[in-house]
Amino acid sequence: MNDVVIAPSILSADFGKLNEEIAQVERETAFLHIDVMDGHYVPNITFGIPVVQSIRKTSKMVFDVHLMVSNPMEFFEPFAKAGADMLTFHIETVEDPDQAIAAIRKLGKRVGMSIHPDTPIEKILPYVTKCDLILVMSVRPGFGGQSFMEDSLARIAKVREVVDAASADTIISVDGGICDQTAGRVVQAGANYLVAGSAVFSNEDHAKAVVELLKCARS
Ligand code: DX5
Ligand code: ZN
Repeated sequence: MNDVVIAPSILSADFGKLNEEIAQVERETAFLHIDVMDGHYVPNITFGIPVVQSIRKTSKMVFDVHLMVSNPMEFFEPFAKAGADMLTFHIETVEDPDQAIAAIRKLGKRVGMSIHPDTPIEKILPYVTKCDLILVMSVRPGFGGQSFMEDSLARIAKVREVVDAASADTIISVDGGICDQTAGRVVQAGANYLVAGSAVFSNEDHAKAVVELLKCARS
């Protein structure tokens, strides 16, 4: 992926009118970030398979499902069947990351691997070129609206080094605290896929917020 993209996170959307919320952002971007939380790996619960199935009926966006659950291996298949295009699991939640990668590949879906801010970034580097997307969390997973953790910039840069050294095209995603002030800086550090929840959905005009973020990301 050469250009930068914004992937709105529906965590901050109004769930009472989710389809409308998604339709608004679909006008400006092709990627939708979907946060699944189990109340165990993270201290919060969101939604699961039936919700993905239901929004799949009306949206053509690329569904990027971020699994913040303790046992992601059990859920690759149900989420794939529900309409996920990319499945991202946390490296901390699997015994054998290679096995998890293979399981997602077998389902014909794109593979994402994420890393918690408390986990040394070196842990994920051996897997960078084996995945389609590496998600560097820039807040502690669990809630929207938190402040960006500054040390994420150096972590993104390390992943970027590995991707470039291998001339790979692994997407580098960043999730948490992305706003007009941080978007340009994470891109400079090497990210090219920016997840944004509150920055998009707290603006009444969600589509306009996506355009503005993209402008900041490119500047
Ligand atoms: C947090 C989620 C994020 C969240 C980001 O655990 O993974 O995707 O929606 O929210 P903001 O953009 O508000 O920091
Ligand atoms: Zn997320």
